[in-house]
Amino acid sequence: MGHATSPFARNPSAVARGLWGWPEDILRRAAASTVIGHGEHDQRMQLEIRPFDASFIDDAARLLAARHRAHRTASPGLDPAFEQAPRARAEIERLLREEPAGEAASAMVAVRGRACVGYLIGIGRDPSIWRANVWIESAGHAVAEPEIVRDLYRAAAETWVDSGRSHHYVLVPASDRDLVDGWFRLGFGQQQVHALRAAPPASFTAHMPDGIRVRLAARRDLANLAHIDRALPEHHARSPVFSGVSVPSLAETEADLEGELDDPRYVTFIVEHDGRAVGAATACSLELSSSNNSLIRPGRAGFLGFAAVLPEARGLGVGRVLGETVIAWARDAGYPWVATDWRATNLEASRTWPRLGFEPTFLRLHRAIV
Ligand SMILES: CC(C)(COP(=O)(O)OP(=O)(O)OC[C@H]1O[C@@H](n2cnc3c(N)ncnc32)[C@H](O)[C@@H]1OP(=O)(O)O)[C@@H](O)C(=O)NCCC(=O)NCCS
Repeated sequence: MGHATSPFARNPSAVARGLWGWPEDILRRAAASTVIGHGEHDQRMQLEIRPFDASFIDDAARLLAARHRAHRTASPGLDPAFEQAPRARAEIERLLREEPAGEAASAMVAVRGRACVGYLIGIGRDPSIWRANVWIESAGHAVAEPEIVRDLYRAAAETWVDSGRSHHYVLVPASDRDLVDGWFRLGFGQQQVHALRAAPPASFTAHMPDGIRVRLAARRDLANLAHIDRALPEHHARSPVFSGVSVPSLAETEADLEGELDDPRYVTFIVEHDGRAVGAATACSLELSSSNNSLIRPGRAGFLGFAAVLPEARGLGVGRVLGETVIAWARDAGYPWVATDWRATNLEASRTWPRLGFEPTFLRLHRAIV
């Protein structure tokens, strides 16, 4: 990739600082204090943690492309394009340019001898949703050995916490148990699961238990849909999810739903049990999901973006009907893959979606330093 696309060219403030968001005293401290040796073979070669600069981008891209190649052996639905270093590099450059919450990205590399053996990029996201935070997105880190991530985090997190950003989020390939374990041993825990399944064959149809029927939702369903819609934030507000997200009023929910029902990009299904509307699900292209972006997103996938069943109708098979209906819809719309995501602490969702064939691709881990 040419000079015009380098992050220095695109981010004048980064050019001025020469680095991504690191105050001078922190840089000096990081350079002076984070020299570590690892493992049997590496005793003679020290690991050095340094601020990321443009000379490391190609090495970082190669590490990310290799991580994605290994990831796709477990999750073949993920986009093969990111196995190519230029595409991986473009994602890294995008992160280095991003300042979604007005904070410049902060980034570190791990160097052993002359080799770059890891990198970590943290960006800030909307604090009204994520509190004072730093996100390591799906392209935000790759390491030659899982243990290196702990050294990178040590150097980076000191600055984040010093500046009051105490909620840390990281997206990690779900199949890389050693990498997930490295993050767990830094105090992180599972918060969200992103998952995929292949579209089913043409012979597949949703199984309908007795007394249950599914149909497309219409405007006359608005009041029922609002009740069902609110069942999700109500569920998330309670134990053991404790999402902290406020539950909107019925009027607010209806207003949101009205827009969605009129928008041809979304398809809403409603399930009736003995003639009463008890569950609903929304399907769309995964491209409409801002949280399923970058390496998380397959080339083309349908998305089970919302599903809920009223509490008194749970456990009757309605959730399966909703999920299977969306899976069949995605196949009919020509998507080779179907995606969804859920809170790891949502017991019902984390038991239902794997039963419908969804397999985790990325885990979002969270650490709160209080
Ligand atoms: C998640 C939800 C949609 C599932 O709907 P549901 O009608 O309760 O689920 P179903 O009765 O169809 O059961 C779904 C599957 O999960 C399985 N399941 C349920 N509880 C289980 C448990 N404790 N252990 C193992 N499997 C379990 C069921 O056996 C069923 O699989 P099967 O059909 O192969 O037997 C529903 O519980 C709900 O609305 N929860 C609150 C809102 C929510 O979490 N929405 C999803 C956000 S991602």
